[in-house]
Amino acid sequence: MHSFDKFHELVSKTINENPFSNSPEELYEPMDYILNIGGKRIRPILTLLGTDLFGGEIKESLKPSLAIEFFHNFSLMHDDIMDNASLRRSKMTVHEKYGVNTAILSGDAMLVRAYQFLEDLEPVLFKRCTQLFSQTAIEVCEGQQFDVNYETRLNVTYEEYINMISLKTSVLLGAALKLGAIIAGAKEEEADKLYQYGLNLGIAYQLKDDYLDVFGSLEHLGKKHAGDIFENKKTILYISALEAANEEQKEELLYWYNSNTDNIDKIYAVEKLFRKLNVNKKLSMLIREFTNKAHKFLDEIDVPEERKVHLRELSEVLIDRQG
Ligand code: IPE
Ligand code: IPE
Ligand code: MG
Ligand code: MG
Ligand code: MG
Repeated sequence: MHSFDKFHELVSKTINENPFSNSPEELYEPMDYILNIGGKRIRPILTLLGTDLFGGEIKESLKPSLAIEFFHNFSLMHDDIMDNASLRRSKMTVHEKYGVNTAILSGDAMLVRAYQFLEDLEPVLFKRCTQLFSQTAIEVCEGQQFDVNYETRLNVTYEEYINMISLKTSVLLGAALKLGAIIAGAKEEEADKLYQYGLNLGIAYQLKDDYLDVFGSLEHLGKKHAGDIFENKKTILYISALEAANEEQKEELLYWYNSNTDNIDKIYAVEKLFRKLNVNKKLSMLIREFTNKAHKFLDEIDVPEERKVHLRELSEVLIDRQG
């Protein structure tokens, strides 16, 4: 991601310039920990790029971009509890390291801290940005609840899945971009096109996350291999496999997704089925489809083409990523 290093550095520098209070240490240390173990910082970078696209001053959106990154990290702290995940960014998850209760509370405080990064916006901007932020936060919770609900349902449809990932993941990418656009003074209609670009790119992003869970390498991904299979997550891999399976394969798949076991045989069996049914190929096509759809919205935005270069490049980097 070398061409985005400068934005990444800028976000990290701004995080360091806004330290937490240090007492009680037990509340704040986990926040420092999760923010400094190597997140890609995609979402705050999107906010900065959203501002840049409409010719705004990047420094105006630096703090708001942290609101997005803090919210994201808060959601991961709680997501890792919900998903029983022990590894994140190749390090112990917060609840593994500090305990579940600390991860809950520290996550809550991080969410509040996220809002504080919007406080410096002038009143009109503050209202628009807070509305967008709160609406997005609620939608992420809705998506997370659907994700949990689907763990114990075997018949999740493709449409339900796309809606679920739009809510839990994509709306935040859309909102990150739109926040940047609003701060740059973009017209609502133009800012909405950018939101739609982010929404579709976000779908591709979560599709790739679901792909990497099974087909990625631990070294690049830094998360437990096949955590989604262990947790009976109804990802696109499962949905496509079920669709393509014959009766016998269907029975086997349903058997494994009906069981809550740590038996590694489950992973071997499910992965074997996924490969046999070619679900990875279908998924690659789908990722391309949503990325193309995203680019159509970018095409429609009324700014000079040279301003769009960063976003076009970033979307390719995101879908080609290995971690
Ligand atoms: C992880 O997001 C959760 C998803 C919605 C896919 P990222 O892969 O962007 O997480 P970090 O911040 O870079 O670790
Ligand atoms: C995470 O989705 C979405 C949110 C945190 C809101 P996942 O559960 O797939 O993310 P990872 O794979 O743990 O990063
Ligand atoms: Mg999850
Ligand atoms: Mg998870
Ligand atoms: Mg995942």
